[in-house]
Amino acid sequence: MTVLVCGGAGYIGSHTVYELIDKGDDVVIVDSLETGHIKAVHKDAKFYKGDIRDKEFLTNVFDKENIDAVIHFAANSLVGESMVNPLKYYDNNLYGTKVLLEVMIEHDVKKIVFSSTAATYGEPERVPILETDKTEPTNTYGETKLSMEKMMKWTDVAHGLKYVALRYFNACGAHKSGEIGEDHHPETHLIPLILQVPLGKREAISVFGNDYDTKDGTCIRDYIHVTDLAQAHILAVDYLMKGNESNVFNLGNGVGFTVNEVIETARKVTGKEIKAVMAERRAGDPAQLIASSEKAKTVLGWKPEHADLEEIIASAWKWHSTHPDGYMDK
Ligand code: UFG
Repeated sequence: MTVLVCGGAGYIGSHTVYELIDKGDDVVIVDSLETGHIKAVHKDAKFYKGDIRDKEFLTNVFDKENIDAVIHFAANSLVGESMVNPLKYYDNNLYGTKVLLEVMIEHDVKKIVFSSTAATYGEPERVPILETDKTEPTNTYGETKLSMEKMMKWTDVAHGLKYVALRYFNACGAHKSGEIGEDHHPETHLIPLILQVPLGKREAISVFGNDYDTKDGTCIRDYIHVTDLAQAHILAVDYLMKGNESNVFNLGNGVGFTVNEVIETARKVTGKEIKAVMAERRAGDPAQLIASSEKAKTVLGWKPEHADLEEIIASAWKWHSTHPDGYMDK
């Protein structure tokens, strides 16, 4: 089977490509390298550099390759940036997806798995969050991801395009080989920022708010290992290849950790003092986000295998301590 991975040079995309190749699939990657990294591209994947908004480019890829299914990661994903530059998100995330779906239909490729997010829910009414809970995004990023889901829903009605939307909670960790990991510019995510302290790249980690209604006052998140996310994409492609209907799944461990707990675990894993300083709340941060992933477990047969926070942070530490400046291609 040949799988086209749009955004296969990015963080979650590259980890998914590694798992697909391990499983024996043929992989074609399309990535603009705007945020992705050429060094994250698996040597056994076929790589096309280009933007999914470029219809001629994408048509050429579909003409040349015999694609059975698409996994779509190619999107901008910074919440803060999406509030400052919303139209960038509409253009890349929505227009890009529109072009991709058009080309897929023109080539009779009608199966797609794509990255959605916990940000589609906005401020949750309860935790753990179920897929049927209210979706009211509080930022442009989440809004564009929800609109991508809706675009696929109506494209299914009209053209029979089958999709699986995977709503990730907090993706983290790195591949067991230590060859690929997280490298964002700018970095905004908690675990890589914490690990910059023992690497001597940052004086202290700022804790964004300690007056939330949680056990220690800091925000609670559901941290999920990137390889477990990657495996869910593979199961979702299988699910569609078997002729199943379009669907939406949460992906998380169902366990929440506070920011302070994550910092404490990082101290234990690295064996280093990690200085933390209290800071103002970050705008738009919900107090708690915890997934119910029962549906993914029951319907897809998904089973997270790296749910332990220490193991997750240890895998991230293996990557960051050997690549303190990331891929160094930016
Ligand atoms: N945090 C800090 N200090 C930092 C960075 C983060 O205290 O320097 C806190 C945040 O306030 C938050 C937690 O650590 O409580 C996790 O923050 P991240 O930025 O790592 O992740 P988010 O939960 O904000 O974002 C994740 C995904 C987004 C997605 C969002 C859904 O990374 O793509 O969940 O709400 F949109």
